[in-house]
Amino acid sequence: MRINTAQGIKELRAVWFEDGTVKMIDQRKLPANFEIYTAKTTEEVAYAIKDMVVRGAPAIGITAAYGMAQAALQKRNVDEAFNLLKNTRPTAHDLFFALKLMKEKIESGENVIRAAESYANDIIGRCEKIGEYGEKLIRDGYRILTHCNAGALAVGDWGTATAPLRKAHRNGKKIFVWVDETRPRLQGARLTAWEMVQEGIEHAVIADNAAGYFMKRGEIDMVIVGADRITKNGDVANKIGTYEKAVVAHENGIPFYVAAPISTFDFSLETGDDIPIEERNEREVLYCRECRVAPEDSKARNPAFDVTPAKYITGIITERGIFRPEDVWKLNGNDGQVHGM
Ligand code: MRU
Repeated sequence: MRINTAQGIKELRAVWFEDGTVKMIDQRKLPANFEIYTAKTTEEVAYAIKDMVVRGAPAIGITAAYGMAQAALQKRNVDEAFNLLKNTRPTAHDLFFALKLMKEKIESGENVIRAAESYANDIIGRCEKIGEYGEKLIRDGYRILTHCNAGALAVGDWGTATAPLRKAHRNGKKIFVWVDETRPRLQGARLTAWEMVQEGIEHAVIADNAAGYFMKRGEIDMVIVGADRITKNGDVANKIGTYEKAVVAHENGIPFYVAAPISTFDFSLETGDDIPIEERNEREVLYCRECRVAPEDSKARNPAFDVTPAKYITGIITERGIFRPEDVWKLNGNDGQVHGM
């Protein structure tokens, strides 16, 4: 991804492997500080995923792939490393997809670094393809709402929901992006807005509860979000609050798209009801960053994701084309692209 530094524009990925360590942009610190976190052991990689140094489904998968490669190089027990990394975050399917693939590669004696690098390159390449398909949906002058951060930081490069935005912008289309702030971790205000600034895309951050207001006023032309897990029937788990946006978009006749690579699809689950939803520490809700915003005696609940039923989704943008949610099962093994959307 393009990052503006004092020395000019730099191209950097969100996570990479260097000298036996897994390096990543510390997403907890953005936008105030740009710091690199270095994981030297499997425990440190697991901590980075759990504490959201790195986050976003495809980036979690890539980090886990590098973590497995590192564990193999350090001659760690493969099952132990697999379990350590697996028990970090329960919702994003990419984590389990990457771990399973890397375990097979390690057990078959493949070069582990090459396998992890090719996993990362493959996922990033797929996301660029999502950009190419998704860009076709964006007309000149479109105002697009996105939720959370499904950007380059959440993938490595390009992003999923932001890939079409980047492509449209780079192809000279005039676009405007509405960025949901995304409480409690503020991935929209902190990370998506930061990416928009780096890329020079016009945007405005809005409070999470403002999207309906702008939809009703006719100021949002389409919604594109990412996904953490998509089930066989086209239901989508994504950052908490996505469901509400989809319902309000539906009510206002605004197209609602989800963008995700194949690693996010879980064809073993029939519906979104089967997706495990992560519940994070109540502290994230009771505090806004370091500042307590609720009374000392208050408790909180903090589900990190919700499930948007397929009926609210106009289309799912993948590296193999744009599918109606009811047709995503066709992606499991054969080419079932739905044309003319
Ligand atoms: O809790 P997070 O920040 O990992 O949640 C991220 C999201 O919900 C993203 O929208 C999703 O992972 C898609 S990332 C391309």
